[in-house]
Amino acid sequence: MARETFYITTPIYYVNDLPHIGHIYTTVVADTIARYKRMGGFDVRFLTGTDEHGQKMERSARSRGVAPKALADEVVRRYEELWRRLEITNDDFIRTTDARHRAGVHAVIARMQAKGDIYKGSYEGWYCSGCEAFFPETQLVNGTCPDQGHPVELLKEESYFFRLSAYQEPLLAFYREHPEFIRPGTRYNEVVRFVEGGLKDLSISRATIRWGIGWPGDAEHTVYVWLDALTNYISALGFGSGDASLYERYWPATLHLVGKDILRFHCVYWPAFLMSARLPLPRQVFGHGWWLRDERKMSKSLGNVVRPDALLERFGPDALRYFMLREMTFGADASFSDEGFLARYNADLANGLGNAASRVLAMARRYGDGRTPSESCDDSVLRTKAGEVVGRWRETMDAFEFHRALEAVWELLAAVDAYVNEKAPWGIAKTEGVSSPRLQHVLYNCLESLRLAAVMVSPVMPAMSARLLAQLGAPEAPGSLEWGGLGTGQPLGPEGALFPRADVEAFFSEVKVDESKPVQPPVSAPAAPAAAAPAPAPAVGVEQIGIDEFARVKLVVGTVRTAERVPKSKKLIRLEVDLGEPALRQIVGGIGDRYQPEQLLGRQIVVVANLKPAVLMGVESRGMLLAASLDGAPFLLAPDGEVAPGTGVK
Ligand code: MSP
Repeated sequence: MARETFYITTPIYYVNDLPHIGHIYTTVVADTIARYKRMGGFDVRFLTGTDEHGQKMERSARSRGVAPKALADEVVRRYEELWRRLEITNDDFIRTTDARHRAGVHAVIARMQAKGDIYKGSYEGWYCSGCEAFFPETQLVNGTCPDQGHPVELLKEESYFFRLSAYQEPLLAFYREHPEFIRPGTRYNEVVRFVEGGLKDLSISRATIRWGIGWPGDAEHTVYVWLDALTNYISALGFGSGDASLYERYWPATLHLVGKDILRFHCVYWPAFLMSARLPLPRQVFGHGWWLRDERKMSKSLGNVVRPDALLERFGPDALRYFMLREMTFGADASFSDEGFLARYNADLANGLGNAASRVLAMARRYGDGRTPSESCDDSVLRTKAGEVVGRWRETMDAFEFHRALEAVWELLAAVDAYVNEKAPWGIAKTEGVSSPRLQHVLYNCLESLRLAAVMVSPVMPAMSARLLAQLGAPEAPGSLEWGGLGTGQPLGPEGALFPRADVEAFFSEVKVDESKPVQPPVSAPAAPAAAAPAPAPAVGVEQIGIDEFARVKLVVGTVRTAERVPKSKKLIRLEVDLGEPALRQIVGGIGDRYQPEQLLGRQIVVVANLKPAVLMGVESRGMLLAASLDGAPFLLAPDGEVAPGTGVK
């Protein structure tokens, strides 16, 4: 019999900027669900990808002086690299610049046209390029977009329209018949209220944007970026481009996972487009909450994003995946802080899981000759506890309550600890000898409980789970969730701490600098003496370095493209600097008491381009600008005449 299918998707990410924790979250949750469903025997298809067209992208590329496709290619490479690093198991990666996608979009438009739902008219109103969305004047908040507070601009252009208004009643009827379509429940109510408020026809083409999919049969227009983007969920299955076998197998999607900010596009526009094209509707859209920083949504436009590089480099993918799923109640907002991450890392991973594993494994090695116990045992409080925990874990994973599923596993780990204290295997070894059946039973119960814990955490921490299973001498994941899966007399695997304890102080002194320790703009190095002139004697007490050491510092000229003050900071200014790379570099400099952000725009500066990233007042700095420091006041260094961004400084 064919297995039940489970088609899960993430939003496709804009490529005008590099990924941050918010993007990672959606993808990690999707990966966790995909892995969990595969364990449950489903025929899973997991899709992610990138949204590469539109006004925002066109402008970003222009401001960097590169072609939009070149910028997209570079950012896509970073996304793909990041997903590999985070062990994301997507089956496909769709780009809206793929030919297969264009074919899918054209096929959908043809079906909407056949239904008589598209007509030509003239659009006059407000457009937010941050959200790539149209807003009626009545919805603007203080002249900005109501969703994210982005600036809006007045558009007046010829446009193709979609009769969205005709779908108000069909949509409301659909929501009533499928209350499970929108999750969580609060979001369902929001969407229903929005649609009840009335739907206007939607402009679905742009005449002034060139970077997009051409409108079929009308070279003057490109397809509106959300109609383009939403279609990815079926174009990636081959809809409209020949082989429709994947589409037939996996559509309709089981679950579209999205952030709450893009719920309306997925729960109103997308089902209306599909109804118009007479195609089946997805089964569920889940709108998750936001990662906040200082109570505000983390976003590029606010300049308060957390990038994953430093945390991933130091703690690896499992710890980051665990933190995100344990810390956030799926559906609600949560705050991201390095302090919170480190506290959980040390308490739950280094202490909780890591200690339980190393304690039990050390005893198993000592009393079992490097092998799993010679006898299994199912007569134990641990078996009862494990059975109860596995049941709760399944229920909560099915309900996407990941934090509760993980809490359940940690209860089992605590029970193992208490059991070891109570049974005191070292005492049994002393009084009854190491081959005592009682000792073997106690050890088996502990190892088997750890094996079950490893299997249960595998969707969240795949690499750690595989490592722990290997240490336990157990077969690799998925592994059975029935008690008794651990073989007897099997060789235990290699030793090694799963999560070495983090030195919090060292982390902060390396990675994080705050206002109490203002960043000193470095004073430029003394110029190298001219060859003919005698080298001045080094000042007493100044350490000398060789040219090789100096050459390790990559100094380049950059042009400042954007500048703004870091909120709540007197000195810090956040810059986006063109270093001749495909994407702008975010650099934070402590120069705000001498310079105003506006003075910096277009100015050339000298940057240390290969400095490890640092987080200043919650904003990541990926480089350092150079300034002379006179009595603590910064004087920016610049080349003596304009040079191309990225020019090296020696
Ligand atoms: N390109 C559109 C989606 C098109 S889907 C057909 C888009 N892209 S995005 O890159 O801006 O955002 C992608 C996802 O990341 C969204 O689900 C968004 O909610 C999520 N996040 C971006 N910042 C976030 C946080 N600070 N916290 C959690 N997720 C957030 O929208």
